[in-house]
Amino acid sequence: MRGSGSIAKGSALFFRSIQITIRSASYASPLPASLTPGRGFGYRHSHSYNRSQITMAPRDPNTLANYGEWLTKHTTVNFKVNFEKQRLEGSVLLELESLTDKKSQEVILDTNHLSILSVKSNSADLQWALKGRVDPYGSPLHVSVPEGVSQGDILKLDIALETTKDCVGLQWMTPAQTGNKKHPYVYSQCQAILARSIFPCQDTPDVKSTFTFNITSPLPVVASGVPVPSDAQGDGDKLFQFEQKVPIPSYLFALASGDLETAPIGKRSVVATGPEALKGAKWELENDMDKFLEVAEKLIFDYQWGQYNVLVLPPSFAYGGMENPIFTFATPTIISGDRQNVDVIAHELSHSWSGNLVGCASWEHFWLNEGWTTYLERRIGAAIHGAPQFDFSAIIGWKSLALLGADHEFTKLIINHKGVDPEDAFSSIPYEKGFHFIYYLDGLVGREHFDKFIPHYFKTWARKSLDSFEFKQTFLDFFNNYGNDEIKEKIAKIPWEERFYTPGLPPKPKFDTAYVDSCLALAEKWEQADYQPSPKDVESFTANQILVFLQAVQNFSSPLDAERSHLLGTTYNISSSHNVELKSAYYLIALKAGDKSELPGVVDLLGSVGRMKFVRPLYRKLNELDRDLAVKTFEENKDFYPSTTKGQLEKDLGLK
Ligand code: BES
Ligand code: ZN
Repeated sequence: MRGSGSIAKGSALFFRSIQITIRSASYASPLPASLTPGRGFGYRHSHSYNRSQITMAPRDPNTLANYGEWLTKHTTVNFKVNFEKQRLEGSVLLELESLTDKKSQEVILDTNHLSILSVKSNSADLQWALKGRVDPYGSPLHVSVPEGVSQGDILKLDIALETTKDCVGLQWMTPAQTGNKKHPYVYSQCQAILARSIFPCQDTPDVKSTFTFNITSPLPVVASGVPVPSDAQGDGDKLFQFEQKVPIPSYLFALASGDLETAPIGKRSVVATGPEALKGAKWELENDMDKFLEVAEKLIFDYQWGQYNVLVLPPSFAYGGMENPIFTFATPTIISGDRQNVDVIAHELSHSWSGNLVGCASWEHFWLNEGWTTYLERRIGAAIHGAPQFDFSAIIGWKSLALLGADHEFTKLIINHKGVDPEDAFSSIPYEKGFHFIYYLDGLVGREHFDKFIPHYFKTWARKSLDSFEFKQTFLDFFNNYGNDEIKEKIAKIPWEERFYTPGLPPKPKFDTAYVDSCLALAEKWEQADYQPSPKDVESFTANQILVFLQAVQNFSSPLDAERSHLLGTTYNISSSHNVELKSAYYLIALKAGDKSELPGVVDLLGSVGRMKFVRPLYRKLNELDRDLAVKTFEENKDFYPSTTKGQLEKDLGLK
């Protein structure tokens, strides 16, 4: 069926049959070329294509919605935050444009463990049914629209709902679980496919909608829209309103409510967090915020979203940062008191262009979001700290790539996602291999010329979604019409297919090793069993240089023994550091060395930080050293972790 061009447009059946056939495929062995994503679609389009003009077979395999027939134009969410019952209650109003001339009589939306109460259009009840679960995508909500709607007209669906206790997109906390122990807290995390657990939607990055948020809560609320000033005062529930006038995909829907206060960190920016942590958060970010924005705007073009704010979340947050528009959500581990982890903010800010304004059409092309963002983050770093910073960061990234297997489907730039949970395919590949592809193109045409392409690309695709083939076409069109024959010849030779579909490491570029040489030289000394360290060794190092040193030690072919590992931790003051990045890197060495004296510190960290980047490797290593302790620690803390983290850890520990 694939490649014949005869795909039944948007039918749920199409999706199901594909999922069932492909899900049984082994991702360790690459699929035949005819099944690789993108090549088989009957419809290939030019970059001038516009979703509202042309109907095509949906290209996102991770949604059950029939978004080839209907397109969400505007979404209004009306939610009451019920802390007592730990659920959102209310309704969502979807304004759907009919895309076909055959007057589709059914809307299919994504849901996952949602309680649907009613579906209405113009106050009249419509027939609806939640169909059986298609794991990991949830239960499609089928709404029948007997009369259909003419092509180009809008159907308004008013859906009453409540979230359930199985909602994977919301993390609820009792007062006891929060920083100042006085108030409850809730925050959302929708990337990649969790928005459907909060409200029924076309849960695909290929659909972008404007949003209105009407959120009622007893505590302050932030969301991924611009706050609409309100004069709500007094005790009890208040209404918080936000407007998002730039169309965004469902995964960028976000809200949080808790005991939040804000402080300015830049011209267009505030940081929000618990009152007890506000001062530290402000200090950490206020030095760099405007610098980041200035560099990014020079490199691309003006910031399009009005405000750029940061919400510092409770420690259970699973990521370093999440680029929710208007309010980036960030882990409190970046508030380390040394301004050494603010590159996370440069990264999330960069997503305001790469990802949020111009984003991947499906998770198969996720590299377009993260690879571009990693590239922009490094350009910002270089503009602020000098050129060697770019290479330094790229070398750290390269090391994380080199650790991954060489021929797994998930090590390709374009990953087949049919039947796959995007969560399972997540790795540093889209970040680092994506970065290297952009960096390769940059080097090929030359920085001066590539810098002209950057704003062109983001302008061409602003407010749209694209796939890797459209990216390729945009790049080729730009440089073929650029008026430079030398560049034209060079780009004709780009091995696109090879770069898109070859698993494993891309060709290694030459790096400027100025900043890593001293770190690696120190690691080499530690390879000698009699090396006597001194605190002076790392005196001139930045935290990131210490990190490179620690990563090199982690990779020793013969690991340090417990005594030497301990000596390292105490001499360099790492065991007592507040920088979680350093501490967790050191604990990996200690666990490998079998240094049991550090176990209480490891257990403590696992119970106080939820960032997956730290907890997953630590649990794996702890499991190797002391399985009972790993399982016990997990059991004690499993309700502290968000459900996706919990699920991943259960898999890692073989408990599921
Ligand atoms: N968008 C990601 C986080 C994400 C990815 C959440 C996939 C859910 C699914 C975010 O921009 C990110 O990359 N965060 C990094 C920051 C780092 C690269 C500076 C993180 O969390 O470590
Ligand atoms: Zn990112």
